[in-house]
Amino acid sequence: MLEVVASIANLRERLLPMRRAGKSIGLVPTMGALHAGHRRLIERARQQNSAVVVSIFVNPLQFDRNEDLARYPRPLDDDLTCCRELHVDFVFTPSAAEMYPHEQLAIVDVPQLSEHLCGAHRPGHFRGVATVVMKLFQIVQPERAYFGEKDAQQLAIIQRMVEDLNLPLTIVPVATVREPDGLALSSRNRHLNEEQRQLAAILPTALQAARARIQSGERSAHVIQTAVAPLFDRHPGLRLEYFSLVDPQTLAPVSYIDRPVLIAAALWIGSTRLIDNLTVSPIENGQPPLSSPRTSTATEAPPAKLRSP
Ligand code: PAF
Repeated sequence: MLEVVASIANLRERLLPMRRAGKSIGLVPTMGALHAGHRRLIERARQQNSAVVVSIFVNPLQFDRNEDLARYPRPLDDDLTCCRELHVDFVFTPSAAEMYPHEQLAIVDVPQLSEHLCGAHRPGHFRGVATVVMKLFQIVQPERAYFGEKDAQQLAIIQRMVEDLNLPLTIVPVATVREPDGLALSSRNRHLNEEQRQLAAILPTALQAARARIQSGERSAHVIQTAVAPLFDRHPGLRLEYFSLVDPQTLAPVSYIDRPVLIAAALWIGSTRLIDNLTVSPIENGQPPLSSPRTSTATEAPPAKLRSP
């Protein structure tokens, strides 16, 4: 039976006997507006743990634009219905005052991983994410926590935070869930009107086009970026923030592709910002690289900013 708990003290009190009884706790941190991508996280948590906690908290610390925070969807009743259907044990719904009773002075920062991709365009965003996730880990003390691969940079940062700070839990990455046309599910998709929704498919299409080029032997990140750029010029409502090829672990830009590479992009459609990514191995199709002009890869080239934001 689902319990909705808004206070940190009450949640701890409810979880303590479970922990003492040796039951494993799985945490799915969310900001609500749950969709099929979240469902996949919750289902995985349900399979692997005795108790499942879903947190729903629209974290003000990670929003760099107040208007984005104000318009973030908050359909709590629908979210609770979803959690009931998936047999979640606890939904943690703290207020901002509960999570941040006073100014948050202790901040978690993973700077090298935060400066690329979205971090370059959203100052302070990943500090806000890492800080709230750390607080949630301290409050719930889960055995496992579940994060979607769609937010690849967030996932890399949280994995590194757990490793560097010796946090006693396992991060479980869960594959991106997509619409039939390839669009990655996101709470932000609901802001798109019909025309924008059609246009949004350009994002996975461009990622697939980049993947196809790598698999057919192209090794230059710059050539790939230049080849996909015109796809985003087709409509004035589209504004590409970045389309980058980076090392999946360090997130540093790659110029010559001779090992697995993360292709990540952020696209504005009107006032909605969508992100997506995929990982490609240059030998995925059994073909070695065509030529290798140098030995090291995760190098100097900055991520192509095809057009300024
Ligand atoms: O991915 C999200 O929904 C948020 O960034 C998270 C991890 C719940 C932290 O607020």
